[in-house]
Amino acid sequence: MKNDATAHLGHISSFLAMDVFARAEELEKQGREIIHLEFGEPDFPTPEIISKVGIDSIKKARTRYTHTQGIEDFRNAVVEKYKNQYSVDIKPSQIMTSSGSSILLYLAIRMLVPPGDEIIMSDLCYACYDNLAMIGGAKPVRVSLRLENGFQLDMDEVRKALTPKTRAILINSPMNPTGTVLDRQCMRELAELGIPVISDEIYADLTYEGEVSSMLQFTDNCVVLNGLSKYYAMTGWRLGYMIMNPEWIGVASKMHQNMMISAAHFVQDAGTTALKESEPECRKMAEEFDKRRRFLLKRLKEIGLDPGYNPVGAFYVFLRYPDQGRKSLDVSMDILDRIGVAMTPGIDFGPAGEGFIRISYANSLENIDEAVSRLQKYFFS
Ligand SMILES: Cc1ncc(COP(=O)(O)O)c(C=O)c1O
Repeated sequence: MKNDATAHLGHISSFLAMDVFARAEELEKQGREIIHLEFGEPDFPTPEIISKVGIDSIKKARTRYTHTQGIEDFRNAVVEKYKNQYSVDIKPSQIMTSSGSSILLYLAIRMLVPPGDEIIMSDLCYACYDNLAMIGGAKPVRVSLRLENGFQLDMDEVRKALTPKTRAILINSPMNPTGTVLDRQCMRELAELGIPVISDEIYADLTYEGEVSSMLQFTDNCVVLNGLSKYYAMTGWRLGYMIMNPEWIGVASKMHQNMMISAAHFVQDAGTTALKESEPECRKMAEEFDKRRRFLLKRLKEIGLDPGYNPVGAFYVFLRYPDQGRKSLDVSMDILDRIGVAMTPGIDFGPAGEGFIRISYANSLENIDEAVSRLQKYFFS
């Protein structure tokens, strides 16, 4: 008997990066050597100073539930970070800590956008944004980003997308998949719209040129999302936080208590050390990413694949490939099969990503070099 009990979620899509990875694994089982440039995950281990605190904390049996918003030390460390980096004064009571920022993004959307109402997001954006909105019953309304504009948000198009049902605007800077930073004027204008902004700042510390801003510098009518996965190389620890308008924390707390109870205590201990003491180690990783970024851009230009814009943050380059007649999923899979380089098809990030592939440079210089040489053969010989 056909059972379509889950049909109402049939429109939720999987991460194509995962599909590429699954195919890459199949090829590896057949003995092929694959260069992995599909994932947005640091290839470095978590700095020792952080892991040690986590291990010690488990040994001390700090393995129970905590306050739903997170332990005081961790929240105080977040307050310090935002004070030092952005000169904004927030209070520990405005912070919610959880097991990664993904669940907090869902919570923020669910909190601000009633089912059936609209949330504006860019077309190009992190693959899960529209899925999370739809899981929460909200309607994603997408504003296109174009290479010709350096992938900047066009504020006239944002204004055109506003309707009486618009309840929030979701931004991400530096951005996945382009690595671009939203300019300050645009953030100021977003704040002036008076609609709550959800600002995903998870890549903010991985900004290699110019200055990155926090939405909190422009308005308190916002939720700022951040997490320790990227800059601190802690993806598998699952630790993230959000900072929000004080009026919303009551509802956010009730939702979080019901959904998550709390983040793990020992993970929060490790996270506190990460925020307070791991800057030298993390800076070194960021410098290494920047070296790879510059190297990748130089090599791509050498072989005639100039991305045509400057990706200044995160660890991604979004590349328009030469053969525009082919779909990005087909191109990614064909590149993987024929030359053993795994990259994410642009369509994973929205319709505006068709014709592009995302290259993650969270891999060694040697592998990046080899991948570009293979791409040269693939496209030009
Ligand atoms: C823009 C963006 N936000 C959030 C996340 C998820 O991070 P977390 O590990 O904190 O759930 C990612 C992961 O790739 C991301 O690229």
